[in-house]
Amino acid sequence: MLDEKRFIQISLELNLFFARIMKEHMIFMEAGLLAKNSDLILEADQLKRSFEKLLGETVDLSDGVIRQATMDSNEFVTPYTLELENMVESLTGICIDTNLTLKEMELEPNLGYNHPSQLGERVFNLNNRIINLIIEIINFKDQLLSKVEDCKIFTFIYPSMQEHLIREAKFYLNSLINLQERKMPEKDIIKTEVFWDEIMGEHAKYIRGMLDPTEEALFNEANDFAILFEKLTGETIDAVKQSIVEITKKNLKATEGIKEFKSSSAEGLLACEIKSIINPLLADHVLREANRYIRVLKTYLNTLK
Ligand SMILES: [Fe+2]
Ligand SMILES: [Fe+2]
Repeated sequence: MLDEKRFIQISLELNLFFARIMKEHMIFMEAGLLAKNSDLILEADQLKRSFEKLLGETVDLSDGVIRQATMDSNEFVTPYTLELENMVESLTGICIDTNLTLKEMELEPNLGYNHPSQLGERVFNLNNRIINLIIEIINFKDQLLSKVEDCKIFTFIYPSMQEHLIREAKFYLNSLINLQERKMPEKDIIKTEVFWDEIMGEHAKYIRGMLDPTEEALFNEANDFAILFEKLTGETIDAVKQSIVEITKKNLKATEGIKEFKSSSAEGLLACEIKSIINPLLADHVLREANRYIRVLKTYLNTLK
């Protein structure tokens, strides 16, 4: 059972990370659809706005509440987020609320004082509203994917990437449902590592697939990460309690590696030095996902000390 303070902190940290992830999935979908499907573009835009609103509420509740270590992990925003948002807004015409990013950059951590009274109730209420919105977003993504699979619509998002976005939304949903029951999410470390290993490997595959064919060095680097994470996923699935620490260390090393690769990709896209069809904000998005996974792995290893 989570006590009130932990419930509040973990909820807000989870929402700060994933509400942004969810709204960016909608930005990628909007940018990947064709003008013919303007109804779906509008629907995605509406869902993005709804998530921005709830992310805004989360940010307002988080000041002085969340932990320093989580803030330091760069899983909420990175040094590239704001610039890449501006870039994507000007390239695509999709509105992005950059004020949220500015506010997040100004967040202060908890310095040991108690949380305001009724914060737990407000967080519980916010979590419930987010749960409803995630269900809406999963339905939207499911419908889009089945139309793509039936060749009824075309999008520049790979079908397997659409499945990836659905899996992330379901992971967020399950974590929040657990939290509402005061249960610690991501408690099963092997399951959590399998989830994130697959996610990391797929990121490498999407980057590999969206690079210009002339970008051979980057293509090969992405391909090496795809192979590495496929291998690690298999090892993690086979892990038993005794071997999980060694596997966790391997996963950490690999994720730190792909984090560097994603950072330099974000820098390269910002500087217009990489030929690709990668949405520049996607580079920062997958970098934050790596940053979160690194924190999860380090936290687990620290609990063993
Ligand atoms: Fe994502
Ligand atoms: Fe992802």
